[in-house]
Amino acid sequence: MALKTILEYPDPRLRTRAQPVTRFDAELGRLSDDMFETMYSAPGIGLAATQVDVHKQVIVIDISSERNEPLVFINPEIVAREGEASTEEGCLSVPGIFDQVKRAAKVRVRARDRQGEAFERDYDDILAVCIQHEMDHLDGKLFVDYLSALKRERIRKKLDKERKERASRPRRSAGDAHRAY
Ligand code: NI
Repeated sequence: MALKTILEYPDPRLRTRAQPVTRFDAELGRLSDDMFETMYSAPGIGLAATQVDVHKQVIVIDISSERNEPLVFINPEIVAREGEASTEEGCLSVPGIFDQVKRAAKVRVRARDRQGEAFERDYDDILAVCIQHEMDHLDGKLFVDYLSALKRERIRKKLDKERKERASRPRRSAGDAHRAY
């Protein structure tokens, strides 16, 4: 396994649209292992392949406090949405920034697991939020896109300043492990 570098806003590579996975092979297994390792180490509760500059439709999530409930979604599609909920979100690609985003409260997701097996399941609460956030990454979209242009510009400047300050130091933690994905 290997730690991958997480791209940070406003890196233009985060705007790439991911392609569907067609081969459920050892390479895909390695990619998901590396994504879990990177997500756990960040630390975060979710990661999309886009964030590590791999433009395939692969998402890993683990919202458990013991970090032992890994979920993999490959080629995910939302087939039904219900309700609306506003949640404070964070993102490993926008470190240290948290803000309210309105999304569907419940989603039904159709996806494949790492063996290529199709499944369809309902999710609510933080899992529903996290899946929608990660699926946005696969479309080249970030949670800051939901904020005002003024806020986005302020965030861009703040991250830019922080990147300069920590140029010689390792990447700092994104903050609360339970809110960054
Ligand atoms: Ni994110």
